[in-house]
Amino acid sequence: MKKWRLDFRVWHWIHATVILGLLGTVFLRKTFLSWRTNSEILSQKLAEMNMEVSIEQAKVLAKAIRHPMWEWHIILGYALVVLLIWRISLFFTDSGKENYQNFKEKSLHKKMVSFGYIGIYTTLVFMAISGFTIHFYEVLGLTKDIAHDIKEIHEFVFNAVLIFVPLHIIGVLIAENRDERGIISDMIHGGDKLNSLKER
Ligand code: HEM
Ligand code: HEM
Repeated sequence: MKKWRLDFRVWHWIHATVILGLLGTVFLRKTFLSWRTNSEILSQKLAEMNMEVSIEQAKVLAKAIRHPMWEWHIILGYALVVLLIWRISLFFTDSGKENYQNFKEKSLHKKMVSFGYIGIYTTLVFMAISGFTIHFYEVLGLTKDIAHDIKEIHEFVFNAVLIFVPLHIIGVLIAENRDERGIISDMIHGGDKLNSLKER
């Protein structure tokens, strides 16, 4: 019997791609497509072409350039919601429960890993709820100020995702090279349930 069922593996890799995509959109928003930097470049270059624009106009232009990229944050946001619902349904399968049973037999390290996963799932549910609340604040009858406050929290909690992702990737790479050989390839071909029972 496989440790990770095919649907669980497919879920994991699509989920990883979507989260990396969401982080990618944030990276672009804060760097190459930052309205602050780009509005300055625009007003400077336009001035060189003898076209004066106000700071406000330059800001509008910079945000318009950023817009098509940021739409991906929302599209991937919808994908995240689907993936979280999919993950909940996977809890009813052996693979979905794999990391969350026989807690007493687990080493301290394995317990921490499992709590880490529960932590990231909780964080992602929060990110999805807060993200959609900001996106639909008008429909929900919220004021711009409240939407802005929620955005500040959404942006703060983003740090938890930013910390989890590299820790997780470095963690499985270290495990693969030390005492959990095959941990990464198991998530590709499914692994063997019997081996995983021996490792607990
Ligand atoms: C791209 C490099 C990645 C690799 C090589 C990788 C590998 C793995 C492996 C081997 C496991 C099983 C570990 C175990 O049993 O404790 C796992 C589980 C997990 N991974 Fe990744 N992962 C990657 C990216 C990501 C990303 C970007 C996320 C996004 C949050 C993520 C979220 C998770 C979660 C939540 C679990 C726990 C699954 C469960 O509920 O049992 N992974 N990953
Ligand atoms: C892993 C999950 C997520 C992460 C790490 C994340 C991260 C962020 C960050 C850092 C910001 C602030 C960007 C800035 O102002 O510089 C932001 C804004 C935002 N996010 Fe997310 N987000 C996630 C999920 C979602 C989801 C599921 C939605 C739902 C549609 C969403 C919708 C939004 C919206 C509407 C904004 C405000 C954009 C604006 O003010 O123009 N996010 N997100």
